[in-house]
Amino acid sequence: MQFAGRTNDYDSFAATYSAENENSLVNAYYERPAMLALAGDVTGRRILDAGCGSGPLTAALRDRGAVVTGIDASAGMLAMARRRLGDDACLHVVDLNDPLPFEDESFDDVVASLVLHYLEDWGPTLAEFRRVLRPGGRLIASVSHPFTAYAHRDPRPDYHATTSYTFDWMLNGRSVPIQLWRRPLHAMTDAFITAGFRLAAISEPQPDPAARELFPDGFQELSTHPNFLFFVVEAPKSATGSDG
Ligand SMILES: C[S@@+](CC[C@H](N)C(=O)[O-])C[C@H]1O[C@@H](n2cnc3c(N)ncnc32)[C@H](O)[C@@H]1O
Repeated sequence: MQFAGRTNDYDSFAATYSAENENSLVNAYYERPAMLALAGDVTGRRILDAGCGSGPLTAALRDRGAVVTGIDASAGMLAMARRRLGDDACLHVVDLNDPLPFEDESFDDVVASLVLHYLEDWGPTLAEFRRVLRPGGRLIASVSHPFTAYAHRDPRPDYHATTSYTFDWMLNGRSVPIQLWRRPLHAMTDAFITAGFRLAAISEPQPDPAARELFPDGFQELSTHPNFLFFVVEAPKSATGSDG
């Protein structure tokens, strides 16, 4: 299928996406609470929010006492983040396919919500995340669940292949063309391990029970068919790569 217009043009739908993300079932009652639960107590931690968008997770982490830097490829999304977070917030336009503009070991955690599936090759990005994390630091990431990314496609894609797919995303009655990359679970875990991380957790959380009454149909669907997959991976505690 041919799509009119540029895919993933977040600048052109920053306000619409941000408004949707704010209170939606999948973001406000599923993805964000899951990321915050995985992050735990973040008081005093230096956190890089990679692909921060308009900054809802950045703000939540900051409210919990973290010192957060946000990066995103979309200047439009970062403008929304600045409005939310204020003029003194640390926000930079950065494409995750490029080297990160930070010193080695600058962060205790990197959080990457719903952004890695925009990248064909995770290798260079994960290597950069590892470089900017201190030994023992964590990468916490959420991505499209392979269960969802490979389902309902005709023809059915080869599960073992990393392939792109394009679809029209309906946002507040407006259709925007999106291109994502799907990959099998083993390709994800291999990429983390190749970048030198240790797998600490793979999580398939339930939505926040508070959403049951607000979104009865969506809640039932999401409780039984996961949208996203969550990872916590750790940089080794010593520079030699051993945790001993
Ligand atoms: C689905 S939104 C998620 C935003 C935010 N993490 C959240 O959960 O609210 C995906 C974000 O990834 C950003 N993005 C996509 N590709 C990117 C890339 N190559 N480098 C940096 N950011 C990217 C988009 O601009 C967008 O803000």
